[in-house]
Amino acid sequence: MKVLLFCDPGIDDSLAIIYALQHPQIELLGIVTSYGNVSKKQATLNAAYLAGLAGRSDIPIISGAEFPLSGENIIYYPEIHGPDGLGPIRPPSTIQGNYQGFMYLYKVIEDHLNEMVIIDVGRSTSLAAAFNLNRNLMEKVSRVYLMGGAFLTPGNVTPLAEANFHGDPIAANVVLKYAKEVIISPLNITNQAIVTREVASYIYSAAHSVFKELIPPITEYYAAYYRKMNPGMRGAPVHDVMPFYHLLNPSFVITKERKVTVLTCEDGRGTSVADLRNSSKNDGSRRHIGLQFDYRHFISDFIKTMTV
Ligand code: BDR
Ligand code: CA
Repeated sequence: MKVLLFCDPGIDDSLAIIYALQHPQIELLGIVTSYGNVSKKQATLNAAYLAGLAGRSDIPIISGAEFPLSGENIIYYPEIHGPDGLGPIRPPSTIQGNYQGFMYLYKVIEDHLNEMVIIDVGRSTSLAAAFNLNRNLMEKVSRVYLMGGAFLTPGNVTPLAEANFHGDPIAANVVLKYAKEVIISPLNITNQAIVTREVASYIYSAAHSVFKELIPPITEYYAAYYRKMNPGMRGAPVHDVMPFYHLLNPSFVITKERKVTVLTCEDGRGTSVADLRNSSKNDGSRRHIGLQFDYRHFISDFIKTMTV
């Protein structure tokens, strides 16, 4: 499956990029890098660093957003993702890459329209901007996979809101309103997509790829933050891997099809809203909310992909 990825690497974004680079059924058509976990500049460098390590410096690294659609200022998250977004790893400050401007994403989409999907695992600013600049083309993309939201479960930046939807709720609503079909991986499932220290060590011992040295230190850095917040947690949730897993393993994720909106008001900012009452039914909205998945299958797929 061909994928145009929007992201903000970030540790779990980086694991998703590694997963995508290594999975035999995924072809990354381009990586659009934006602000979020780190600055847009650092996200761009990190994506180029990972592509370069895989010998894939040919993958277009496309310049995304630096700020939310509202233009407001933002904060980054070094305490979660490390000073450069890769835990303790410090990539070089200049890296060769196939750097492209924002409008290049339309070329990628036009060239592959009928055989590609979009995965967005960051604030949705860049993807929403792409819709706002050329809605006619963007509405033709068959499916958009989003990591975002928390449905009737606690958020991770506020009691109710998840970080990607909270970071740019206006953008999330643009995508949720205009995309042809949206498959959402919210915290409901991604919080359970945990990579333990044992799994990371096993990957280190069994992997042959250039990424083997990277996986234990970055997951451990990420897990240390989660342990601090939730003592007793057994590892780190790899949120951003989930949309890739869902794309490739749809029968292992249970979804409900419901219209979704994101609150933009100050108090409830970023809260994802859908009618999940027992009495509600699939509504034909083509917005599919992931609510359960098969962890054993997920983790064996993750290990298999990371140990090639
Ligand atoms: C999401 O927020 C980011 O910090 C992570 O990379 C992930 O995309 C989880 O809420
Ligand atoms: Ca992310």
